[in-house]
Amino acid sequence: MKVLALNCSPRKNWNTAKLLKSALKGAESAGAEVEYIDLYGLNFTGCRSCMLCKRKDVERCRCYWKDDLSPVINKVFSSDVLFIGSPIYLGRPTSQYFAFMERLHFTSLSYDDYSNYFKGKVDVGMFLTMNATEEFYEQMYKNEFEAYANEFRMLNGDVSLYPVFNTLQVKDYTKFDMSGFNEEVKKDVHEEKFPIDLENAFNMGVSLSK
Ligand SMILES: Cc1cc2nc3c(=O)[nH]c(=O)nc-3n(C[C@H](O)[C@H](O)[C@H](O)COP(=O)(O)O)c2cc1C
Repeated sequence: MKVLALNCSPRKNWNTAKLLKSALKGAESAGAEVEYIDLYGLNFTGCRSCMLCKRKDVERCRCYWKDDLSPVINKVFSSDVLFIGSPIYLGRPTSQYFAFMERLHFTSLSYDDYSNYFKGKVDVGMFLTMNATEEFYEQMYKNEFEAYANEFRMLNGDVSLYPVFNTLQVKDYTKFDMSGFNEEVKKDVHEEKFPIDLENAFNMGVSLSK
């Protein structure tokens, strides 16, 4: 059982990273072989339209552009479980998430009949972190982010989306012009709710690795 986690936050040990690491700990405890990758630590762009993945003489579901992301794409296709996490940036996943997704999706898309070249199965657990409250998420983001998560149906497995609300964005709010946020509420959520989210992430790691 191979479980891969991709962090699409630029911050290497904040909310999104912690959730992904907890999911991997769960997977590891269930005996899975795990790997963690910070996408922001890699050098890559979105699809370069080289069209090599559509050539008649090449293996399918491979990205042939020579940069740091192509081996990661190959790893996704050979994993049993993918955990991916992104903060919400201006109502969307981050730019590295989109660059990754563009490459992943295009390599498996047939330009003969728009079918899916990928015949394997990868279950996906997606974590979203955000300043938004649950109420705001339900009203403004939920439909859109479910659609982003559903793009992973191309991996032919189950897709679960786990949103984490009202995250702590900085350690000390008094040092920043961020009066739109209530530091006390943020800290309470961080101390009381976030540990539960980490535990749920751990349990997702366990259950998806079975
Ligand atoms: C550039 C930027 C844009 C953001 N836009 C939103 C947003 O539109 N909605 C939201 O709820 N949170 C937004 N946030 C807050 C982040 O989603 C939130 O702090 C998240 O937990 C950060 O993840 P991290 O701690 O793993 O880096 C934004 C943060 C940044 C830096």
